Amino acid sequence: MNLDLLYHEHIAELRERHARALENCGFDRLLIHAGGPSAPFLDDNSYPFRVNPHFKHWLPLLQHPYSVLVVSADARPRLVYFQPEDYWHQPPEDPEGFWVKHFDVVLARSPKQIAAALPAPGGRTAYIGDAPELLGSFSEAQVNPAKLVAELHFLRAYKTDYEIDCLRRANLIAARGHNAARDAFLGGGTELDIHHAYLRGAGVLECELPYANIVAVNGHGSILHYHGADRSRMQPQDIHSLVIDAGADYQGYASDITRSYAYRSGEYAELVAAVDAEQRALVDEVRIGMEFADLHWRGHLRLAHLLSRFDLVRLEPADIVERGVSSYFFPCGLGHFIGLQVHDVGGYLANPAGEEFPRDPRAQFLRLVRKVEARQAFTIEPGIYFSDMQMGELARSPAAGHINWDKVDRFRRYGGVRVEDCVVVHADGVENQSRNGFRAIAGSDA
Ligand code: GLY
Ligand code: MN
Ligand code: MN
Repeated sequence: MNLDLLYHEHIAELRERHARALENCGFDRLLIHAGGPSAPFLDDNSYPFRVNPHFKHWLPLLQHPYSVLVVSADARPRLVYFQPEDYWHQPPEDPEGFWVKHFDVVLARSPKQIAAALPAPGGRTAYIGDAPELLGSFSEAQVNPAKLVAELHFLRAYKTDYEIDCLRRANLIAARGHNAARDAFLGGGTELDIHHAYLRGAGVLECELPYANIVAVNGHGSILHYHGADRSRMQPQDIHSLVIDAGADYQGYASDITRSYAYRSGEYAELVAAVDAEQRALVDEVRIGMEFADLHWRGHLRLAHLLSRFDLVRLEPADIVERGVSSYFFPCGLGHFIGLQVHDVGGYLANPAGEEFPRDPRAQFLRLVRKVEARQAFTIEPGIYFSDMQMGELARSPAAGHINWDKVDRFRRYGGVRVEDCVVVHADGVENQSRNGFRAIAGSDA
């Protein structure tokens, strides 16, 4: 299906969802603000601009601060398109592209013109964004009304075909970056070299990434969100492992992929292969109707088998999970929704009314517990980490006597292993967008 048609259906779906949500919440119209740049304290250099995800849900416009979308049940959406005259910064291009015909576009050159193009904030107008003061005076109940936002967030889990296509492309871009990063690592590159290789391979600016790259060589792999960038070159004998967690953006949609690489064959390479096999098995286990939390615990059990098989923990796999030992090696969640945000919203929403599922204290960092349904996009990212902090706590726990500490200590130099793919659930099966991305480029640059 071509992009025009996909987008046409996407907008039709969003119009329907928003009309229903507005009615349910007692509003006639909604102003969705792209937002504005912000700067560090006492600085006049702003952070890279990140658009309001509610805005980019409708529009592939990522660098259009101050623009406003007006949505109402009974009219075409109106886009107040801010295009200032500016010689300091490049103003947005004239509005053009596949999206334009779905909106009544009003050009605004100044804040005054934006205000003039907007409906007055009245009792039944809602606002979603982070700078309502720029658009008039709203009451507290009108700004990001919790019930309205919850309904939209609940529905955001169901991706349209347009969104699924964007996610697919975001995975393809990231796969290119990953292959280049892998080659840089195997060539002896530093963390900084590997990061630059990723950017070059993906063909992106750092500020276009959906999240900061995690490029972790050796023990750094034990830090789940490591954001350092070592730049001292190591001797080959000192290089052991790479965990790289890096994604890409396509028209506002994120991918989130992790690969782990051994510098040479041996025990770490075997662990990487084993985690990779369990990760693929977990993807194969995804079924519509199952709870994601169930998949999370199945992941624990699979990892527990590895902890036992690699003689790291001397307990039965079921006991390793039951006694909480697997949580020291895998202290995060198995996955999360992905889409407009890398950790997309709504993972605990039980229904459009905004009720939430309770948190399980045994899985406090799990971001997704909803039932698996068609059109959901989420990651599956099991891992085994040898974090000094976690291993220290394990050593002080009642299970300490069941750990093969010599083996654990030998693995610390590798940091850990994580394998992460982005998948989309369809009525007739699961699409692994990350592996498909790697496969698609295998002929050209693998
Ligand atoms: N890249 C962050 C995560 O995997 O959740
Ligand atoms: Mn992730
Ligand atoms: Mn990740």
